[in-house]
Amino acid sequence: VTAGIASPLNWEGGIDGYLSLLDQTELPGRETWLAIRDVASLCGAIHRLSVRGAPAIGIAGAFGIVIAAQHAAAHGEQVFEQRVASDAQRIGATRPTAVNLQWAVDRMMAALRRGRPDSPESAISLLLKEAQSIHHEEIASCESIARFGEPLIKEGSGVLTHCNAGPLATGGMGTALAPLLLAHGRGRRFRVYADETRPLLQGARITMWELLRAGMDATLLCDGAAASLMAEGKIQLVIVGADRIARNGDVANKIGTMSVALLARAFGIPFYVAAPFSTVDLQTPAGRDIPIEHRDPQEVAKFGGFATAPANCKVYSPAFDVTPGHLIAGLITERGIVCPVTEGGLAQVGAASPP
Ligand code: MRU
Repeated sequence: VTAGIASPLNWEGGIDGYLSLLDQTELPGRETWLAIRDVASLCGAIHRLSVRGAPAIGIAGAFGIVIAAQHAAAHGEQVFEQRVASDAQRIGATRPTAVNLQWAVDRMMAALRRGRPDSPESAISLLLKEAQSIHHEEIASCESIARFGEPLIKEGSGVLTHCNAGPLATGGMGTALAPLLLAHGRGRRFRVYADETRPLLQGARITMWELLRAGMDATLLCDGAAASLMAEGKIQLVIVGADRIARNGDVANKIGTMSVALLARAFGIPFYVAAPFSTVDLQTPAGRDIPIEHRDPQEVAKFGGFATAPANCKVYSPAFDVTPGHLIAGLITERGIVCPVTEGGLAQVGAASPP
């Protein structure tokens, strides 16, 4: 169902093992794997988007705590916890918007405190188990999201997505792409359209790569072509992923998502978000409280080393925007579809026990 796409991140070996990451910056040209054995390399890989997508950076952050513990063990029991805690802070701060990263780091540190291991070795082993649980739970969440979302995909329809919320963004079968992959696997015929997703082209480079590998009918468009595609009647459904969902249902996702939601509203097309509960942040009251990452202006003013704008021009480059909950027809989670996407709707589905 994951279209033969290898998990983009895997722990290799036991307590002295390492994290193996598919370098997503090299796609679609090359499949290069990175062996991550220290916290600085992990933070670099997260920051330059070698590993990206909210659930995937959460999983990578969890394994990062195992790596932090491996290094802390070399400095003796006295400073073990202090060193792990300081690396945990560093890892959690690498990217500010997707809450899954801080959520996973917090969960790892809570497991360490709760487990009261009697030696650095047993701490590493406990942390490795917790990171593997987070990884397995995210895989299971993606499968549930696929099952809840699959009935929305109608025979003969056109579905638009933005950015990449597929296997490479999650370690499982994806969030926004999971219902599509399942419907395709069940023989439904429909067309998928992927926005290229400026500035770093996650839609063109990664979503298209995944959809074509899965053998799906997929078409790429420039972000600016979405309105005309909708005006031609080609889109019946929009599904995107999420980086953080505030308590009131506002959703931060890749820059450009809000434009697609507003267009969908204008054309009367249902706009859905698919995300696991690890992306829901009840501590953040509303979208305006979500920290938005701004990236290096050079990512917009240059491409592949070539200038695409005059040198030193001013650049506005937020990596994410916030779509208000009232523009969202439903939030597809591993516990069911939240509708309306409001604090009440989230509480109702969040309070239910997982399937
Ligand atoms: O900057 P990125 O590539 O990490 O942004 C990713 C997105 O915005 C995804 O849509 C989101 O993380 C959902 S991934 C299932």
